[in-house]
Amino acid sequence: MHRLTVDTPSRRYDVCVGRGLLKEAGALLSQVLPPPRRVCLAADDQVWELWGEQAEAGLRLAGYTVDVWRFPHGEGSKTPATALSLAEYLSSLPLTRTDCVAALGGGVAGDIVGFAAAVYLRGIPVVQLPTTLLAAVDSSVGGKTGVDLPAGKNLLGAFHQPSLVVCDLDTLDTLPPAQFTDGCAEVIKYGVIGDRSFFFDLTEPISRHMEAVIARCVRMKRDIVAGDERDTGARQLLNLGHTIGHAVEKLSGYTRGHGSCVAIGMAAITRAAVRRGLCPEADLGALLAMLEQYGLPTACPYDGAALLPVIAGDKKRAGSAITLAVPHGIGDTRLVKVPVETLPGWLQDALEGW
Ligand SMILES: NC(=O)c1ccc[n+]([C@@H]2O[C@H](COP(=O)([O-])OP(=O)(O)OC[C@H]3O[C@@H](n4cnc5c(N)ncnc54)[C@H](O)[C@@H]3O)[C@@H](O)[C@H]2O)c1
Ligand SMILES: [Zn+2]
Repeated sequence: MHRLTVDTPSRRYDVCVGRGLLKEAGALLSQVLPPPRRVCLAADDQVWELWGEQAEAGLRLAGYTVDVWRFPHGEGSKTPATALSLAEYLSSLPLTRTDCVAALGGGVAGDIVGFAAAVYLRGIPVVQLPTTLLAAVDSSVGGKTGVDLPAGKNLLGAFHQPSLVVCDLDTLDTLPPAQFTDGCAEVIKYGVIGDRSFFFDLTEPISRHMEAVIARCVRMKRDIVAGDERDTGARQLLNLGHTIGHAVEKLSGYTRGHGSCVAIGMAAITRAAVRRGLCPEADLGALLAMLEQYGLPTACPYDGAALLPVIAGDKKRAGSAITLAVPHGIGDTRLVKVPVETLPGWLQDALEGW
């Protein structure tokens, strides 16, 4: 098992990564929030069917009282109504500030449950039990929580760090292949952001060295988040591929997987960096080859005219400028703040004539 400590200004907590950990979730939790206390175990219907009983048993074994709350799987559930219904369930138990809630599942469960935990009683402890690759390497760590509004994704949210993250690698064995592939895009992203040798290690399939790969990603996210918990500086590096990626995701009506869109976004922004003489062309070639090796797309299905209005409306825009994460090579991504008027030029360099 890998055990990493995340040290943010608001909370210090451990991330445990290994096989067979759901059964030990209670024992691990008892080191942080000892029983007796109530744990509300929340999961979507699909994850519950596969892994719910094991997680529940692991918690009960350590002496916790466990209540279960389920919701329909999918991004469509990531709404204020779902978070409200969880909060109402918690108040019916009633769950108090000394109890806790556990999110078993992917990023959707983590975001909904984390958000409800952030606001119920003005904040109760939350434990993240990620079961997708994306949740393991990204959403379960760092404390961003939230739900979607009709106007866009994650528009209602809060920063609320978990008290513990337990990633049981066994759960990833049941992931549908497309879901696994999607998570691989985020793994590759970490290499491009700041670790060239890690990137090239990924030519050996991720599934063959899963624990080390996830631990490496968590360590990198930990280091970035520790220095910028509130996403005002270096944390924006994690948005590599996401500015264009989010726009592709939105234009596709959310029919394309998030990771696939991030892959398209990373390829596009790296092309722009090459055209501007910022990034060696060989590194673009290595990125495209890596994305293709994992079955991820690299061609953008939309042109600049379609993408521009969506990007310009992005919530991450600060006034008339937008911060882009631009690779200057594999393992060397930098932030550049550019005026919104220059975006058409960036998009042209990213998309046209390749
Ligand atoms: N908070 C953050 O920092 C952060 C970061 C990145 C993404 N996100 C959010 O994460 C969400 C996407 O997360 P996701 O891709 O994990 O989606 P998800 O939680 O919807 O999971 C995807 C699907 O896989 C199923 N599933 C989950 N684990 C499984 C398993 N072990 N075996 C079989 N099926 C399983 C789920 O039931 C679901 O249908 C988005 O809403 C995104 O905004 C948040
Ligand atoms: Zn992402």
